[in-house]
Amino acid sequence: MGKPSLGERLQAMFPFDWELLRHAGAEPIPHHLKKWWFCLGGTVLYLFVVQVVTGIALTFYYVPSPEEAYASVAAITREIRFGWFIRSLHKWAANLMIIAVILHMLRVFFTGAYRHPRQLNWCVGLLLLMATLAFGFTGYSLVFEQLSFWGATVAANLAEAVPLVGPWMAHFLRGGPEVGGATLTRFYVLHIGLLPTITSALLALHILLIRLQGVTELEQPGADAKTGERHFPFWPDHATTEILIGVLLMYLLTILALAFPAGLGPPADPTQTPDHIKPEWFFYFSFRLLKLTSLHVSVALTVAMGAIAFFWPFIEEWCRRRWRMPDGVPVTLGTMAFLVFLVLTVWESFAS
Ligand code: HEM
Repeated sequence: MGKPSLGERLQAMFPFDWELLRHAGAEPIPHHLKKWWFCLGGTVLYLFVVQVVTGIALTFYYVPSPEEAYASVAAITREIRFGWFIRSLHKWAANLMIIAVILHMLRVFFTGAYRHPRQLNWCVGLLLLMATLAFGFTGYSLVFEQLSFWGATVAANLAEAVPLVGPWMAHFLRGGPEVGGATLTRFYVLHIGLLPTITSALLALHILLIRLQGVTELEQPGADAKTGERHFPFWPDHATTEILIGVLLMYLLTILALAFPAGLGPPADPTQTPDHIKPEWFFYFSFRLLKLTSLHVSVALTVAMGAIAFFWPFIEEWCRRRWRMPDGVPVTLGTMAFLVFLVLTVWESFAS
């Protein structure tokens, strides 16, 4: 018997069946996923990875204490080499991730991809959306500048008005009756520990379900212009599309970070309420509702809309079984809900 080759020795040390991986990679993907707007989920995933990498770099320098948080962000922005760039990438990727999640959700909704048997994956997706918003909110508050401090105060008041669990939730978030040092520690733990863990677990479940169920086939399937094929393999075709999207995103992020680097307002002053308090743009919707109605009405409406969105696949199924609901109804309702969200967000962005 001859000497085993290096390949054979490595295979013996790590006895993995590579044929399994080749088989998994050859999964047929419907043709419509050649268009980037149908595979926005991959874009969100890519941006999440950018957030993890830039976030880890930032934690080397960020200090989560009320006395030093602002100064450490100022040092990252002004003194540490390339600190401003990493911080700007982190900020822009966060905003793009929220936009991409919303667009991904809209494409899933308007192609009816949430229907049986993918109801559970829609719910997992909605939890991912909530986790993404929580990332944005806790991250913004870590800067400990005047606006982010007061933004956190308003958000804690909003949380307090949630029926039943509100007061407990607000107390848990603040770590006491007021926003202060304990709040910063809690937001830090949430932002760099709990939320990444929960998001990674949810992502694993989301992707496992996509892999087990496959991506929804559209009613009017597209086909390759030359070969007439309606499907193409994940590897290397779809992987190449995703890598290309990733490279373009990196270009976009770099341009945004260079042209509009992350700024820094005045430090938090708990004794001085600013004239105009504004949360981050993704909470403009609730904030405008609050101005139009009252704290309790706006929170109740936001919670009700969130609950309807979460259970929508089951609500729709139930309605279809009870009444003969025309196909256009979910599309009309979805369009109206999105327009309300858009109008209130744009309205608030122009308000002083
Ligand atoms: C961190 C956030 C998310 C990530 C990384 C993610 C990732 C993905 C990926 C990679 C796909 C495969 C198809 C595609 O690329 O579009 C997908 C499909 C899907 N996603 Fe998401 N997603 C996220 C959030 C959401 C949200 C907010 C929803 C809805 C509430 C959702 C519901 C679904 C459903 C139902 C599918 C199956 C679509 C089909 O069969 O055509 N996802 N997701």
